[in-house]
Amino acid sequence: MSNPNTKALAVALSNTFVLYVKTLNYHWHIKGENFYENHLLLENHYNELAESIDSIAERIVIYGEKAPATMAEFLKLATIKEADDSKKDATTMIMELAEDRKNLADKMLAEIESKTLDPITEDVLLQQVQSHTKAAWMLKSCKK
Ligand SMILES: [Fe+2]
Repeated sequence: MSNPNTKALAVALSNTFVLYVKTLNYHWHIKGENFYENHLLLENHYNELAESIDSIAERIVIYGEKAPATMAEFLKLATIKEADDSKKDATTMIMELAEDRKNLADKMLAEIESKTLDPITEDVLLQQVQSHTKAAWMLKSCKK
């Protein structure tokens, strides 16, 4: 994969996939007094991430390249870390996801600012930056 556009998209796809699995994990295992609210918020987030995964992957295919499509490839390319299996309270889970969203938005914005991408890839990443920034704000606002 030598094209800078598909390279950036492949990393974005991999990070989004890892974040999708992590969000599902916390959706299933979150506990506490605001359980139902948090459970639903994370459901909205994993559904939105699933749509992003599909559009980023299809954009790579439209460029005529093969999108990463195995867990091994996603884990190799991603910079976001999977959830470890330590016990976490709801606030820790939510703040961890907020931090991941912010880091991902910053990373994508830096890619856009590098001026090495074509306008279509910039647009795909910019939409992702907006969605991760909004999600980070929603998650952070859950903290009392
Ligand atoms: Fe569910």
